[in-house]
Amino acid sequence: MLGIIGGTGLTQLANLKITHRRVARTPYGEPSGALTFGRLCDQDVIFLARHGYGHTIPPHEVNYRANLWALKEHGVNRIVSVATVGGIHPELIPGTLVIPDQIIDYTHGRDGTFFVEGDRPVTHRDFTQPYCAAMRAALLQAATSADISLRDGGVYAAVQGPRLETAAEINRLERDGADMVGMTGMPEAYLACELDLCYATVGTVVNHAAGRGLSADGIQMVEIQVVLGEVMLQVRHLLEQLVTN
Ligand code: HPA
Repeated sequence: MLGIIGGTGLTQLANLKITHRRVARTPYGEPSGALTFGRLCDQDVIFLARHGYGHTIPPHEVNYRANLWALKEHGVNRIVSVATVGGIHPELIPGTLVIPDQIIDYTHGRDGTFFVEGDRPVTHRDFTQPYCAAMRAALLQAATSADISLRDGGVYAAVQGPRLETAAEINRLERDGADMVGMTGMPEAYLACELDLCYATVGTVVNHAAGRGLSADGIQMVEIQVVLGEVMLQVRHLLEQLVTN
């Protein structure tokens, strides 16, 4: 079954026929909100709002472990995560949809593994390719079928937040090879890997990163809101096509 983790701007799926909601408990605590079970174009899916349904949980306080554990426990084996990002690469302008293929993790202090019990052997998972190739391919295929423009590949810089970056920090991220910057990509992607979930991210570019393009003089939240509304319509359309294909 497909799990959808919605980020900023996607706290619900209008086209989802909800069957029921369930408050899940896990050995790692409670997920960001109740799991929403429903049918999207006649396919069973589970939706979860990463920041809670009222968008009240900041990126560094999201219980990523509980979210992924709960989804898996309820039958999810593949996940599309939707995440807003700031564009660093000049082609990643606001409104663009992108499927990153790599991650650099700059976050700290987040619970980043399920292997914490004393009786479990220390595990070093391969993470060379952080995203599931099958899910990335399915998303690209869905975009082609639905005539949605979707950029294939890019390096996602996962930063701690909740503040936005300085212009110098964005310059550094660019020198590191990052194409986009967001606050929720890690440890979510790695935890999905530990649970053998086929996981990929749809990045929605909602602003030029700090110091770039329209954000040269500061990032305007009002502009982000406008772009968010437009881009999430496309994301909804993409998800419908994904489950239909
Ligand atoms: N920086 C970090 N996270 C973000 C941004 C940004 O510019 N835009 C959306 N999420």
